[in-house]
Amino acid sequence: MIKNTIFRISALAVSLSFASLSFANQDTQVASNVKDWNKDGGEKSEAMLLTPNRENGIEVYEVCSACHKLEGWGETSGTFPMLAGQHRNVLIKQLADIRALNRDNPTMYPFALPESIGDAQAIADVTAYIATLPMNPEPGVGPGTGLDKGAKLYKDNCVKCHGENGEGNADKFYPRIQGQHYAYMLRQFEWIRDKKRRNANPDMVEQIKNFSDEDMVNVIDFVARQKPPKELLAPSAAWQNPDYD
Ligand code: HEC
Ligand code: HEC
Repeated sequence: MIKNTIFRISALAVSLSFASLSFANQDTQVASNVKDWNKDGGEKSEAMLLTPNRENGIEVYEVCSACHKLEGWGETSGTFPMLAGQHRNVLIKQLADIRALNRDNPTMYPFALPESIGDAQAIADVTAYIATLPMNPEPGVGPGTGLDKGAKLYKDNCVKCHGENGEGNADKFYPRIQGQHYAYMLRQFEWIRDKKRRNANPDMVEQIKNFSDEDMVNVIDFVARQKPPKELLAPSAAWQNPDYD
């Protein structure tokens, strides 16, 4: 009986390793990206362990505000993303990826370097500060012509990672996308689909590979219009950041 079970287990192991071998052969690139898109180590892991200093965060953020604005709202045109309301883990990962050239951002790169803002401690400080900023309640949105189709696409393709309502998942480094500017997200989504965003999650790339440009517009327009929880929103679009009078 025991012998028989052991035999069956080892037979299973052999067939599993064959399965993974042929998987690796077919799709080596995807398989190696899966483990790389969010590997531990580097400044990301370092910054997550440090105790943030709010005063220094405010000071560092001044550099960032040239583009992301004092409120952390970026621009509704989508040139600059809203940072306010994003999970701190996601901000840390994105900033570390940009500094390590794992995500191309030539506009921002020189301002984000250690020479400009400091080491991993600066990442810890500025992201902790940004995480306290309330979101713009009136983000940029799309044409509004395919929201029902967008809702269906969202439900079928995005919920499992970005959540029911676009809230993301801090522990898994899945970004909050509800209430983010439409034009920014459209650009990122297209880059992710077309494999131009190098730190993209390979499972997302796979999930959206058959999206047409129209699907993309509809789903992103739907997401931009999803409301973040009230406690994350500024009281109005006229709110100003009191930390920089
Ligand atoms: C010169 C303009 C500029 C400055 C200064 C700048 N950024 Fe950015 N940042 C951008 C642009 C543009 C993007 C979006 C790039 C893209 O579309 O891929 C971006 C993207 C980001 C993202 C990714 C957001 C996301 O949703 O994935 C983070 C995080 C970020 N910036 C943080 C910062 C921080 C922190 C600072 C200050 C240390 C800073 N930025 C300074 C222009 C700037
Ligand atoms: C398998 C999980 C997964 C699925 C499914 C998925 N995403 Fe993502 N998505 C991610 C992760 C992880 C990132 C961030 C990758 C990184 O660290 O750079 C991301 C990034 C994004 C971004 C860029 C956010 C930013 O701030 O730069 C947008 C927009 C987005 N996803 C929209 C969607 C939409 C819409 C769908 C469904 C059509 C979808 N995603 C499906 C995991 C997923």
